[in-house]
Amino acid sequence: MLKLAVLVSGGGTNLQAIMDAIDAGKITNAKIEVVISNNKNAYALERAAKKGIDHLCISPKDYESREEFNRVFLEKLDSYQVDLVVLAGFLVVIPAEMIQKYRNRIINIHPSLIPSFCGTGYYGLKVHEGVLARGVKVTGATVHFVDEGTDTGPIILQKAVSVEQGDTPEILQRRVMEQAEWQIMPQAIDLIANGKVSVVDGHVQIAE
Ligand code: GAR
Repeated sequence: MLKLAVLVSGGGTNLQAIMDAIDAGKITNAKIEVVISNNKNAYALERAAKKGIDHLCISPKDYESREEFNRVFLEKLDSYQVDLVVLAGFLVVIPAEMIQKYRNRIINIHPSLIPSFCGTGYYGLKVHEGVLARGVKVTGATVHFVDEGTDTGPIILQKAVSVEQGDTPEILQRRVMEQAEWQIMPQAIDLIANGKVSVVDGHVQIAE
């Protein structure tokens, strides 16, 4: 059974999709051990509470320095002894020590087709604003392993979504979530939980 920690900052619709997929048997061999938020007002925490899943908030605001926050965060995460850390709309920069310790055991969902509209400054609605400003006709979402760069780790799954005339960032965000994020995030977890994902020379291979 793959033990998961899901890290969140906001609404938690991706967390909800993961919980629903576990209930529906679309993700097998996986269990959420803990949900951790950096923001005490994140609705994601309520979603975890409703499911009876352990949940907690560790906010940088409560610590004197970023180093202190990082230390406490990693200590708490380690105490759950999880196999996979899932960044589901987690908007905090992951410290290098955590990336080293959990090499190829941290995955992130990004709301675009990497390498477009990703990297520093591209998160949440800003991604969709960038897509509309450039006028591309196809966008989507990407699940990838986290490495030292921003959105640069090995890509596990991607799904394309059409940009429609008249889209606002909010409308596009919702379509990307519905048609891509809420599908490929659970799918990626299921593949990992069932031993189908490996990283070879920096690229992901998925077993049949
Ligand atoms: C999602 O769209 C996710 O892809 C994005 O934040 C949103 C969180 O929504 N993540 C990033 O932009 C990471 N760079 P949620 O809290 O409802 O899952």
